[in-house]
Amino acid sequence: MFITLEGPEGSGKTTAIKYAVKKLEEMGYEIVQTREPGGTPISEQIRDIILSKNNTEMDGRTEALLYAASRRQHLVEKIWPAIKEGKIVICDRYLDSSLAYQGYARGLGEENVLNINKFATEDTMPDLTILFDIDPEIGMERIKENSTREVNRLDLEQIEFHKTVRNAFLSISKEYPERYVVIDASRPQEEVEKEVLDIILKRL
Ligand code: TYD
Repeated sequence: MFITLEGPEGSGKTTAIKYAVKKLEEMGYEIVQTREPGGTPISEQIRDIILSKNNTEMDGRTEALLYAASRRQHLVEKIWPAIKEGKIVICDRYLDSSLAYQGYARGLGEENVLNINKFATEDTMPDLTILFDIDPEIGMERIKENSTREVNRLDLEQIEFHKTVRNAFLSISKEYPERYVVIDASRPQEEVEKEVLDIILKRL
């Protein structure tokens, strides 16, 4: 089972999943929790290049290709082996983030970005995607309040960019209704955490 978490900045997906992982492990499931861009040493190095605040010159297509490169390495080294061993893989962001951020918000086109990602992933799509939907104004406010989370190059985009990202995710969720579940991430953390666990248990 391959599960991905998607949503705009500050949607709380990383915190919300911790509860589900803990509960699932207590039930005896083997979970591999990982994130994009990153998850392996090579992918983490690519992440540093993508998110560095110094790289203001980065071209949109370069950005999209780097995300896809990082994703491929992550699949090869971590995700595919774990799935083969029958583990549940939970990945914080995956291909849909590229469709939303690079395809829509950077304006590269969903189809173009999907195509380079098909090459990178050999058509590996998640079984379940949980979209943490939230108004980006609330999301950015949460990031500012949360001093442990470092601000990266994409956080520095204007609010319009993040609104486009939100709408992009909502429209992607309608394109793939069989694997998407949308949750309202503006509710209290405890409610969101429980809903996430319920959604996963229903699919197992
Ligand atoms: P991260 O600090 O992991 O953000 P978050 O906690 O919000 O997940 O940074 C990842 C950033 O990269 C985030 O701004 C979203 C962006 N991103 C893309 O633009 N395209 C992608 O394909 C992926 C995976 C992430």
